[in-house]
Amino acid sequence: MAILNALWGGLPLLLPLCVVLLAFLGYCLYIKYLHLKYDHIPGPPRPSFILGHSPIFLDVMKKDELVHDKFREWAETYGPVYKINFLHYVIIGVSCPHATKEILMSSKHPKDKFLYTRLFNLFGQRFLGNGLVTARNHEQWYKQRRIMDPAFSSLYLRGLTGTFNERAEKLMDKLTEQADNGTEANMLSLFNYVALDIIAKVAFGADLDLVKYTSPFPKAIEMCMRGMVHVVRDVTFAYFPKNWPFIDEVRKACRLLRETGAQWINARKAAMHNGEDIPKDILTQIIKSAGQEESMTKEDEELMLDNFVTFFIAGQETTANQMAFCMMELGRHPELLQKVRKEVDEVIGMKREINNEDLGKLNYLSQVLQETLRLYPTAPGTSRDLLEDEVISGIHIPAGATCMFSSYTTGRLETFFKDPLKFDPDRFHPDAPKPYYCYYPFALGPRSCLGKNFAQMEAKVVMAKLLQRFDFTLVPGQTFAIKDTGSLRPMSGVPCTIRHRQN
Ligand code: HEM
Repeated sequence: MAILNALWGGLPLLLPLCVVLLAFLGYCLYIKYLHLKYDHIPGPPRPSFILGHSPIFLDVMKKDELVHDKFREWAETYGPVYKINFLHYVIIGVSCPHATKEILMSSKHPKDKFLYTRLFNLFGQRFLGNGLVTARNHEQWYKQRRIMDPAFSSLYLRGLTGTFNERAEKLMDKLTEQADNGTEANMLSLFNYVALDIIAKVAFGADLDLVKYTSPFPKAIEMCMRGMVHVVRDVTFAYFPKNWPFIDEVRKACRLLRETGAQWINARKAAMHNGEDIPKDILTQIIKSAGQEESMTKEDEELMLDNFVTFFIAGQETTANQMAFCMMELGRHPELLQKVRKEVDEVIGMKREINNEDLGKLNYLSQVLQETLRLYPTAPGTSRDLLEDEVISGIHIPAGATCMFSSYTTGRLETFFKDPLKFDPDRFHPDAPKPYYCYYPFALGPRSCLGKNFAQMEAKVVMAKLLQRFDFTLVPGQTFAIKDTGSLRPMSGVPCTIRHRQN
């Protein structure tokens, strides 16, 4: 009797425990079912039943290595389709060009739920929300993209060359100073400043003049990017108190960007109300995409901030990193540096203002920039959810999996590029065969980069001016490794000594 009483007394405690245990068992059975469903697909051994391959990623991150090198290694070992697991998620690494074309060129496969919904918030603070990069719902995305398109039309972009020139000149002033003083220049941070200066001016009509002044924005962007990596790759990160100070900083950085967005949007709205002459820039389009002022909801306002942050980050980081990698490779290849400089001299000579016609003639510089993105695709890939069964490279992929496409992987596979680690801009010579769905640094299809032409115009103006006026040497002893901050950047920061050109 006493035993029975004790058992009854303990029941309120035992019951929830049983429920949790049963739920856990049910979850394990579900994972087992998924393993059985997808285990005909080749892939690396799973180190953990529940966590799948995630311990491998955590180890890579701990060593500050590149997770994309693992993807490349697996594509080399297991072929054009390989499978990785994480909890109840099944991710299929795809390097088959035909499937890349079919899946990315179609709008029937939504962006991957696991990744893109995680970028809605960073540790509870709204981040990219439902903005252009992260919107998964086709209608919601299409409405925004259609409104944003005019700010990226070739006609509109051609009118921006003057601003690109003017902002790039500020970087040239800074480099002149460094050449005069003989001080070392951290090129990544200078490119970050100029790219942010350009996007702030061109997209939002704001004068930051960052090359001259210190600003909290580059650091805030970096914190958000670092936060993103943890949110996406380590689901347990927020549970460890030692990470809380970092999380706090990420939240603050995110808030700074959104608050800045709110201020700039309000200032622009006031200018609109006052009948001032306003540019048809990205900020105007962002405001338009939110609808009429009278019927604007709280969510519409949040959506404007989502897109503000989206453009602030997407419009800066990737281009700055591309220019830094480009400088790193030119510094390592004096013969290519000489060749591209010869072209710059022939096309722009001593001119300060580079015009659209000049940009069209800088073909070798374009090739150098394209080759830079083959080895260093600064936004290394994208992913889609499969809503229907597919057959990829003869392997049946049941619906429900996520397909991951990595331009980093395909760009470095011998199957697609001979001697893949060699930096060779002639791969992109107009007479060379075009890479077939194995080179997509701006993604492909309807969700491809909206800012591709913008970015490449900007990179060409900045690099052409720099090559026109300066000589540089990479500071010896620096690493040429890649740092993974969600986007890829040169780990060293590309320190250089800058000199005025003598010839
Ligand atoms: C070298 C520079 C750049 C690279 C390598 C790059 C790469 C990419 C990639 C790979 C995507 C697809 C992302 C995904 O699927 O998750 C993307 C999307 C996007 N990028 Fe870029 N980007 C660059 C510069 C820019 C610039 C300068 C802007 C704006 C001024 C921009 C705006 C966007 C937007 C709005 C999207 C989302 C498009 C959509 O889904 O409709 N990007 N970019």
